[in-house]
Amino acid sequence: MDINAIVKYFGFSEHPFITSPDPRFLYLSSQVRDALAKCEFMARDRIGPLYMYGPIGSGKTSLVRRLHEKLSQDERYNVKLLISPNLKSSNAFLRLVMETFDVKTERSYAASLGNFESFLVQQYQAGRIPVLLVDEAQYMTREQLKLIHYLLNFETNTTKLLQIVLVGQEELGIKIIGYRELASRMFPISMSAMSLDDLRDMVEFRLTVAGRKGPFFAPDVDDAYRVLYTYTKGLPRDAIKVCFELLIELATRGQQLATAQQVEEIAKGQNLRI
Ligand SMILES: Nc1ncnc2c1ncn2[C@@H]1O[C@H](COP(=O)(O)OP(=O)(O)OP(=O)(O)O)[C@@H](O)[C@H]1O
Ligand SMILES: [Mg+2]
Repeated sequence: MDINAIVKYFGFSEHPFITSPDPRFLYLSSQVRDALAKCEFMARDRIGPLYMYGPIGSGKTSLVRRLHEKLSQDERYNVKLLISPNLKSSNAFLRLVMETFDVKTERSYAASLGNFESFLVQQYQAGRIPVLLVDEAQYMTREQLKLIHYLLNFETNTTKLLQIVLVGQEELGIKIIGYRELASRMFPISMSAMSLDDLRDMVEFRLTVAGRKGPFFAPDVDDAYRVLYTYTKGLPRDAIKVCFELLIELATRGQQLATAQQVEEIAKGQNLRI
């Protein structure tokens, strides 16, 4: 059964459980809200730089896309979102960063760095705040992190000229903590899996965004969410995948409401463990 058929069957306006990190479906748990506020505040006051790390599928990309969207709407910010590229040299990485900000690169690394610093100074004088967001930053090489370290030296007596937020899986935290000079200059944000209540609110929120009016589980809603939480350990992507399959199961059987037992069967089928 395809996505359109599911949407039609349940009378949704769109599918609630697609696993792409669409910020419109982002439920603002207190953790997400705090992390967003911290990023915004650090950027606004040019205090930065931050690194945010957390488990696979915990919502980091969704969060950084929301941050990007939000800052982009404010003309004080010149905000760019990069996915950490598979580039070995720091020179290639610098070029990519500069191209993203539309700054001319030079053949020599030092000359490029000079251009970039002039650009940052100009931005500062124009009252703009350049913000570089890097997702999948767990893949950054030591060389690339060295460049980040170097870029953090671009500052006036009172403020940083470039705001940086690195986002990635747990290894990012380990990498940065292992690079002490960098760690001592950056502020960490650690993301974790959701609580049972947040997971439940997140699922309900996504259903509401998709136009669902009535309940989704029956007869024992609490039990169904407990089972979902137990198998997914509060990881949003895993929970969404279970719900995605639940919809197919219900539609195939001509049902509207899911039971805890169906949640359990699907979770087991997806190799999730208690
Ligand atoms: N707070 C949330 N509200 C609603 N949906 C969420 C939330 N957090 C995560 N999700 C959903 O969970 C899925 C995984 O999220 P996302 O891709 O942002 O995770 P990630 O931490 O970047 O994963 P990875 O470690 O694989 O890069 C997406 O479908 C996303 O929409
Ligand atoms: Mg991600």
